[in-house]
Amino acid sequence: MRVLFMGDVIGRAGRDAVVERMPEIRSRLTPDFVILNGENAAHGFGITPKICEDFFAAGIDVVTLGNHTWDQREIIPFLDSQPRVLRPLNYPAGTPGRGVGVYPASRGRKVMVVQVMGRLFMDPLDDPFAALERELAKVRLGAGGGMDAIILDVHAEASSEKMALGHVADGRVSLVVGSHSHIPTADAQILPGGTAYQTDAGMCGDYDSVIGMKKEAAIHKFVRKIPGDRLSPAEGTGTVCGVLVETDDRSGLAQRVAPLRLGGRLAETWPAW
Ligand SMILES: [Fe+2]
Ligand SMILES: [Fe+2]
Repeated sequence: MRVLFMGDVIGRAGRDAVVERMPEIRSRLTPDFVILNGENAAHGFGITPKICEDFFAAGIDVVTLGNHTWDQREIIPFLDSQPRVLRPLNYPAGTPGRGVGVYPASRGRKVMVVQVMGRLFMDPLDDPFAALERELAKVRLGAGGGMDAIILDVHAEASSEKMALGHVADGRVSLVVGSHSHIPTADAQILPGGTAYQTDAGMCGDYDSVIGMKKEAAIHKFVRKIPGDRLSPAEGTGTVCGVLVETDDRSGLAQRVAPLRLGGRLAETWPAW
């Protein structure tokens, strides 16, 4: 089966790019299941229930979030009522929402999506490695009673932490893909145990920016140590960035993996299959 994961959607430029290009993406890549990271969809900070519904209407199956999960307060009750929106798994017990879900796909297949958040250069949080182990111990990848595909979104700053989690999950999930850094990495590969991996999917947003935000205010924050304008999303044409994995129907492991980059400023890249 084919699963597409798209990275952090930044504001209107990112939302418009995804919604406008989804019909073309669907017809050319024929994904069976589509996931996107929506933590920056609402003007760069968090997401609203309305934006989630817009994504679902555009054909997105699951929305993952991250450290910006809580920026729009109206999303908090929605997290408990809408299982197709995930926040990182390794928040303390009792945190609203969930970090893992199992979803129906075509021909009776099941897809599990899980998100963990890293701890290097990020806010303190429960151990993502231990949290992941607890979830993977409950399931089995592959046909015959298990999960047809398991997708792990590692929302983290450090590429080292993402790679370590990739190797820990190798052979037990279909795809490990990073989010949060907003820049696509060129390391799409299938790890030795059969799990597809890319350190970061990249953002869906305007790349004439500082990781999706207007460059002037972002540069001011580095150059001057007094408060400047609030960061807001850059408004040029967005690039859609994602990773496509094709899994083996029996094992659930990856057969092929390739990046997708479409529209806006980045060189266009489609999987060659
Ligand atoms: Fe982000
Ligand atoms: Fe993030």
